[in-house]
Amino acid sequence: MTKIRITKKTMDIIKRDRNVMFTTTREHYPFVAKSGRGDFAYDAEGNKFIDFSSFISIYNFGVNGNAAIRNAIKKQVDELMHSAFTDYYAELPVEFAENLVKMMPKGFGRVFLSNSGTEANEDAIKLSRLFTRKSYIMGFFNAFHGRSIGALGLTSTKIAQRERFGPFPNVVHAVYPNPYRCEFGTDNAEDCANASIDYIERNIFQRTYSAKEIAAIFIEPVQGEGGYIVPPVKFMRELRKLATDNGILLVSDEVQSGYMRTGKFLAMEHFGVTADIYTMAKAIGGGLPLGATIAKKELGDTPPGSHAGTFGGNLAVIAAANTSLKYVMKNRRKIESTVKKNGRKIMKRLEQMKDSYEIVGDVRGIGMMTALELVKDKENKVPAVKEREAVLEECFYNGLIALPAGESTIRIIPPITIGENNLDRGLNILEDAIKKVNGQGKSRVD
Ligand SMILES: Cc1ncc(COP(=O)(O)O)c(C=O)c1O
Repeated sequence: MTKIRITKKTMDIIKRDRNVMFTTTREHYPFVAKSGRGDFAYDAEGNKFIDFSSFISIYNFGVNGNAAIRNAIKKQVDELMHSAFTDYYAELPVEFAENLVKMMPKGFGRVFLSNSGTEANEDAIKLSRLFTRKSYIMGFFNAFHGRSIGALGLTSTKIAQRERFGPFPNVVHAVYPNPYRCEFGTDNAEDCANASIDYIERNIFQRTYSAKEIAAIFIEPVQGEGGYIVPPVKFMRELRKLATDNGILLVSDEVQSGYMRTGKFLAMEHFGVTADIYTMAKAIGGGLPLGATIAKKELGDTPPGSHAGTFGGNLAVIAAANTSLKYVMKNRRKIESTVKKNGRKIMKRLEQMKDSYEIVGDVRGIGMMTALELVKDKENKVPAVKEREAVLEECFYNGLIALPAGESTIRIIPPITIGENNLDRGLNILEDAIKKVNGQGKSRVD
């Protein structure tokens, strides 16, 4: 992989972006996306990068989808792009919903289609209020559920995302058990899980918000934007019990963790827990914007006219999504074993990095939803924020794009289909960058 060259061409596009676009979340290296195929992304200069980001968990089966997905979109665009699915019927979205339901646990049978993750969660908030006739929604600190007002009420990763946007509707937050940084001061994952459940029962149900008023508990099975945090299995099972015992719906936000990323269609499957509602987006659209809210059939029906959205079920989008989903259905076992194999390989290398470098504090993940957290030193675990930026930048200039999460975490989420050689090459670039920033070489933060 040759060294990356950035010229005035890139810097001019970035300047124009800053001049005209509203807010930005782009604070990192200057990657200007131009094209992509399989394991690789290319920038506006023609530089070639191995992709360890799947473009924020979208391209689970290769950058820019595969030929079947692209052809399905082209064919559909020629026939009819938009069918006004909220007012007229169309077969394709119905077939897609039927397929989606087949991938769900038994008993699921209602699908609402939208355009994004935040919308899928917004829809789930509304549905849970409708079904339970209760108004409060519970979420977790350090969660990310989107940026529209309802979903943003649940989101609590960074103050910049919420500051000056409130008030938010009837939301309460509980403590997500983070085994590496347990808020309750224990290093024992099980104790951390128990303390989190206890917090909900004592500080929320008994002191602030009655369970009788809480419609739903929203949870990411693995916290994504918050830093790829995997909670103890026991916690998720206890939470399920708590929800059931109190007549509260459990909503699993699978926007980032779902769609085979962890090796299962739903990340919640790893916990042996079934939620009442699942929300999905990102990869489910096969590269195009799609959100889906999938509920248990027993929850009931929504009154006609009570909820809709113009673009939900857009035919071009669903052509991509259905083609991708059919690929997943046909190759489910193969994908599962690929994720297991690649996930093991990634974790083994990350563990080695943790053993070798002081700044790698924790490595974690399920399947191919993996990450490493950088710290100033292993003992005090102070987040190595600047160092994380330096590692990402070093990776970029050596031909690897990866994304941050949480305060000082780097997510490692290549396309599931990445070739073994490219996975090794990407991990080598990552390790070289860490080595450099760790002090065994020259670093860009120096
Ligand atoms: C778990 C989770 N939920 C919801 C969202 C919001 O999705 P979108 O950006 O499509 O609105 C995200 C986005 O990162 C996410 O990771």
